[in-house]
Amino acid sequence: MRKPIKGFSKLSKLDKIEWIAATYFTDADSAKQAITQYWNTDQKLQQLHDEFIENTITNYYLPFGVAPNFLINGKLYTIPMAIEESSVVAAASKAAKFWLDRGGFKTEVISTTKIGQVHFMYNGDFDKLRKFFKTVKPKLFEDSQHITKSMKKRGGGILDIKLINKTEALEDYYQLHATFETLDAMGANFINSCLEQFAKTFKSEALHFDDFLEAESHIQIVMSILSNYVPDCLVKVEVSCPVKDLSEDHSIAPHDFAQKFVQAVKIAEIEPYRAVTHNKGIMNGIDAVVLATGNDFRAVEAGVHAYASRQGAYSSLSHAEIVDDVFRFWMEIPLALGTVGGLTNLHPLVKVALEMLDHPTAKELMQIVAAAGLAQNFAALRSLTTTGIQEGHMKMHLMNMLNQQNATAQEKETIVAHFKNNTVTHSAVEAALSNLRMMRNN
Ligand code: MEV
Repeated sequence: MRKPIKGFSKLSKLDKIEWIAATYFTDADSAKQAITQYWNTDQKLQQLHDEFIENTITNYYLPFGVAPNFLINGKLYTIPMAIEESSVVAAASKAAKFWLDRGGFKTEVISTTKIGQVHFMYNGDFDKLRKFFKTVKPKLFEDSQHITKSMKKRGGGILDIKLINKTEALEDYYQLHATFETLDAMGANFINSCLEQFAKTFKSEALHFDDFLEAESHIQIVMSILSNYVPDCLVKVEVSCPVKDLSEDHSIAPHDFAQKFVQAVKIAEIEPYRAVTHNKGIMNGIDAVVLATGNDFRAVEAGVHAYASRQGAYSSLSHAEIVDDVFRFWMEIPLALGTVGGLTNLHPLVKVALEMLDHPTAKELMQIVAAAGLAQNFAALRSLTTTGIQEGHMKMHLMNMLNQQNATAQEKETIVAHFKNNTVTHSAVEAALSNLRMMRNN
């Protein structure tokens, strides 16, 4: 029977590993070896990673790949992507190349407003609360000046604070609903600090507001936190070309392809089961760039999926149409990203990613990320509506299978050549490899 451990976080890194290996592994030495093999020999670099989070025992590697040839508003980018899924970078590169020859991606930032809320309970007369809010509002701005000063200097800050009555949904529940412009910062710390200051001022000022009865003056602050739902931090991305230019090969007529593609998007618009997978394909591209550039992919995921449900049913993020023989494919998505603060000036690979993108502003990064998402969606739908997804997927997965079988470089070369014209399945790969090994041994 395992016992809980006390003071784990105080143990040294090695002691933590010892305890884990002894508690959970039959072969403690192999476990320790598997964990420590990823330690970086550069002590300073390792320490940096150790200190990102608590209880770090090792580093978790993901491939950092690049997708070149992204033409976005006339500028060429090579997009960095951190992702484990075999086919994603290849698909992005292929889609980028395809659209490079057809005018590239057109993007536009529609809005950049972020939101935060102080959630509080008040048991009393709403008119009095409204009056109090009006009185205290300038002080909410004033008291947070020490937080907003430098953001304001650069043109950002608190845009507005509103009092919202939510008592129809929950008894005594109100909000201070604040909007922010955080420029090149994702802004989570800035927003949360402002909100906590609002809460402090709001609560203490209420104690001295003459109109309140004693009970009314005791406002209960429940929490102060930004919202990851950012429907007013929106970017639009689009590709288009004459239908006749859509085909790369002669396997499908351009018009048939365009029609099937539009049908596939329409299905995702009305069928939530399909929409989730459709949008997952978009997030393959988005998350990979968000992660490579040191941004918070959980925040982006949560916000994007909420946006996909904004009309009451989960639906496709992207849309497509054919008008006057022109094919158009586009989406609008909310993206709260930063290119300063957070990991951006800490993680060496994030710095590489941002420099590769010419040190983008947050607005530029929104456009790059959106283009990666649409490219991924285009690649997935093109495969799905023509060859099927498995052909490409399994070809990319082939290397994983060969690695699982400890194939040598020479074996990999032979097997990859063999599967250029054969269907990749687990059993076919196993058989081809064992044939090859048998032939070599005879
Ligand atoms: C796989 O990671 C993503 C796809 O399923 C997306 C889609 O179905 O559109 C291929």
